[in-house]
Amino acid sequence: MGSSRLCLTVAEKTIEEDVKQVQKFAQHIDMVELRADFLETKEYGSIPSFPKVVRFPSILTMRSRAHGGHFLGSERERQRMIRMALGAGFAFIDREEGTEDPRLDQQIEDSGARIIRSFHDFEGVPDDLAARILKLLKRKTELPKATVMPGNTGDLLKIAQCAQALRNQQKILLGMGDFGLLTRLLAPVFDSYLSYCSPPGMETAPGHLDPELLDTLFRFREIDARTEIFAVIGNPIKHSISPQIHNKGYADLGLNAVYVPVLVDSLRDFFQLAEILRMGGFSVTIPHKQGVLDFLTERDESVTQIGACNTVIRRQNGWEGKNTDVSGFLAPLRKVFAGEIPAGLKATVIGAGGAARAVVYALVKNRFDVLILNRTEERAQHLARDFRCRWGGYTAEGITSMRGFSELIVQTTSVGMVPNTQADLLSDFVFTGDEIVYELVYKPHETKFLKRAAKAGCRIIHGLDMLYEQAYDQFFLFTGREYPQALRAKNNGS
Ligand code: ATR
Repeated sequence: MGSSRLCLTVAEKTIEEDVKQVQKFAQHIDMVELRADFLETKEYGSIPSFPKVVRFPSILTMRSRAHGGHFLGSERERQRMIRMALGAGFAFIDREEGTEDPRLDQQIEDSGARIIRSFHDFEGVPDDLAARILKLLKRKTELPKATVMPGNTGDLLKIAQCAQALRNQQKILLGMGDFGLLTRLLAPVFDSYLSYCSPPGMETAPGHLDPELLDTLFRFREIDARTEIFAVIGNPIKHSISPQIHNKGYADLGLNAVYVPVLVDSLRDFFQLAEILRMGGFSVTIPHKQGVLDFLTERDESVTQIGACNTVIRRQNGWEGKNTDVSGFLAPLRKVFAGEIPAGLKATVIGAGGAARAVVYALVKNRFDVLILNRTEERAQHLARDFRCRWGGYTAEGITSMRGFSELIVQTTSVGMVPNTQADLLSDFVFTGDEIVYELVYKPHETKFLKRAAKAGCRIIHGLDMLYEQAYDQFFLFTGREYPQALRAKNNGS
C-alpha cells in the first residue's frame, strides 16, 4: 500500500478566486488541481502564475466538453493553452486518453511536468478496468488515472479487485458517486496516488468530499498500511452519525483506525470487499440487520434469539455477529434506575418490528413483564409467542390493558420521525406522570409522543441516548478500548 495525497480541485471563474480557495484549505491538503476549463477566457493568461502563487504541487486540467469538461475551444486552442503553461511549474498536466500528441507530450515531459493520462467512465465500471489502466500508459513517466462510476456494491468490489491486481502500479483510481465514496475516503488503501476533494458546494465530480472533513474526521493523511478499517453498512447510509462518533474516539485515543460509511446493496459483494480490505469489523444498519446472519460463522445468543445483528467482528476463521442494540438499549434504563433494574416491572412495547424484537429480548432478559401492542396484531402475537409476553392492538381494549403495563413504555416504531413529526400513535393514552417513557426515534430529538410524556411529568429517555450507547459498546468491541469519557460528556450535552 502506497501513500496517497489529498488534492483540492479548484474550479472558480478567476485565478484569484482559485487561489483564495487553496489558501482557505491549505492546512488540509497536499496538492491542487486547477480546473482551467472553468476559468473565464480573459483569465487564461494568468494560468502560468498559479503554481508559484499557491506553492503546492499542481495539476493543470483543461477538460474539453467532449470529455465532460467546460472548455469550448478547439483541440488546437487547448494544446496552445497547455504549451503556454509549460515551464510555469505545474507538476502534472492532465491529458485524456485518445488525445495523445507525441510532440506536445514530449514537450510536457521536457518541461519537467508529468502527464496524468486519464479516462473517465460516467456510466459504470468496465469489466477490464485493470487492463484499461495499463493500456493508458504511453510513456514510462506517465501516471494513469481512471475515474469510474460504480452503480452498486459489485462495481465497488471490481474497483477493489483492480486495485489489488495493480498493487505495484502507480496510478490514480477512484470511484464517483455514493457507491464510490469508499475509494475516495480510503485512497491510500486502494493504492491511489491521490484523492480529489472540493470546497463545499463546488464539487466538480459526483461524490467529492470537502478537504476538512477528509483530513480532520477521517484523518485521511494518517491512513497507512497498518490502519485498521471499520465501517457502517446500510442503504441509505449517507446520514449516519456513526462515523462522527467512532472516528472522534479513535482520534482522541490516538488509535490507528478509521471508520467509514459504505452504501451496500449486496451483502455478498460487501463481505468479499471486507475480506480484501481486511476490515476489523463493521456496524450494520437498516436494511441489513437480518441479512448479515447468512454470512456469520459465529453469533452470540442475542443474535440467534432476536434474528438480527448490528455488530460484526472479524475473527480468525470468519465473522462473529453480536448485538449492541441490546446493551445500548439497557444502558440509559440503568441510569434511570441508578444501577440495577428491579425485577418484575411492567412494560408496554409499542411496535413489533425488528427494533421491537431487540427491545423485547432485552426486557424479558431483565425480568420485565411485557405487553406488546402493534398495528398489525398478528405480528404482535407472533413476537409475544417467541418471548412469552402479552399482546394487543391500538384498540380501546389494547390501550386499557396498557394501564396495567405502564411502569415503562417503549416506542419502537418509526411513527413521529421526520418528516411526519406531528404523528403520535398513542394520542388516546393519557400519561399519569409516573411512567418512564423511552422513545427510539431520534429525529427529531424529541417526538410529539415524548414531549407529551415530559409535559405530564414522566421521566423520559431519548432515542439519541440509545444510539450513542450502542455505538460506545461497539467501539469497545472493535478496539478493546472504552469510549473516551470527555467525548461522552460532549455527546450528552448535544
Ligand atoms: P424496525 O426494524 O425499525 O422496527 P420494521 O421491522 O419494518 O422496522 O417495523 C416497523 C414497525 O413500525 C412495525 O411495528 C410497524 O407496524 P406494522 O407491523 O403494523 O407494520 C410499525 N409502523 C410503521 N409505520 C407505522 C404506522 N404508520 N402506523 C403504525 N405502525 C407503524
